[in-house]
Amino acid sequence: MATKVVLSGMRPSGKLHLGNYFGALANWIKLQNEYKCYYMVADWHALTSEYGDTSGLEGNVWDMVIDWLASGLDPQKCVIFRQSWVPQHAELHLLLSMITPLSWLERVPTYKEQQQEMTNRDLSTYGFLGYPLLQSADILVYKADRVPVGEDQLPHLELTREVCRRFNYLYKANLPEPEALLSKSPKILGTDARKMSKSYNNAIYLSDTKEEVAAKTKTMFTDPKKVRVDDKGHPEGCVVFNTHKLYTPEWQDIETRCKAGTIGCVACKSRLIETLNSGLEPIRAVRAQWARKPDDVKEIVEEGSKKAVAVAQTTMAEVREAIKFAAPGKAGTYD
Ligand code: TRP
Ligand code: SF4
Repeated sequence: MATKVVLSGMRPSGKLHLGNYFGALANWIKLQNEYKCYYMVADWHALTSEYGDTSGLEGNVWDMVIDWLASGLDPQKCVIFRQSWVPQHAELHLLLSMITPLSWLERVPTYKEQQQEMTNRDLSTYGFLGYPLLQSADILVYKADRVPVGEDQLPHLELTREVCRRFNYLYKANLPEPEALLSKSPKILGTDARKMSKSYNNAIYLSDTKEEVAAKTKTMFTDPKKVRVDDKGHPEGCVVFNTHKLYTPEWQDIETRCKAGTIGCVACKSRLIETLNSGLEPIRAVRAQWARKPDDVKEIVEEGSKKAVAVAQTTMAEVREAIKFAAPGKAGTYD
């Protein structure tokens, strides 16, 4: 059987933190060995909420791509591309918008939630309402079979499947219905024990220096009831322990000793600083190399986007034909 196609995307949020890495990127890196993978910088998606200030966007795109490469996304194994360099996404989004009832978009849970949360900008825009449909176009234009997403994105995938069925029904087409690939990713806590997030200012970045990692680890929230070395601790809600589980081979031993009161938080943090830094060092080193070669990074994304365009063009030719739009002749403008 032909290798299945995977598509996923990330908004260009800039340098990536451990939450981004364990929540998505680590899984992408695994999947590139098993599937035909397309990984996209979703820069148009960034505009659906950040349209008011685009000054950081370009830098964020490249910071993110460099983190992808440093972490192990390999352009020999997967296609790394940029959404806005593949205009077919926009064309398919437009065509899908013709057949998508407004109510389907209004009932996507993130729509109302985010509108209420992000009160510092006006999200009563057409682009914001339509952003899950843009995501549908992202997926369908590559005929992706599988879409690795977190749980929060499942409603978007459900919308995509519904829109896909409606398109196939209306135009007697055959776009494959994509399935979610739900990865069991651990919950990554920020230094303050809330979910790790750039906007909470509690994140550890892949690009942080040794010294930054050490300083941030020292501020990590621990069990407030464990004051002295021999107090019995509760590792469950402790950020240090949460991070040990990801990086420290003997994390179970640490759990036992914390509960027994045979290790103190200071020593426990020192050990985490060691394991966290040795885990991040290889990424940091490769990252520094890519950061010195921005032209090479750009070329990787250009090459990837060319490959993406070739696939997207083929799909769009089929889509236009299904809708019964004739293709232009040689003097026309498609291609
Ligand atoms: N909406 C996704 C997010 O915010 C990013 C994204 C855009 C995406 N297009 C996609 C994810 C297509 C999967 C498939 O995380
Ligand atoms: Fe957390 Fe370690 Fe302190 Fe236990 S000993 S509360 S795991 S920092």
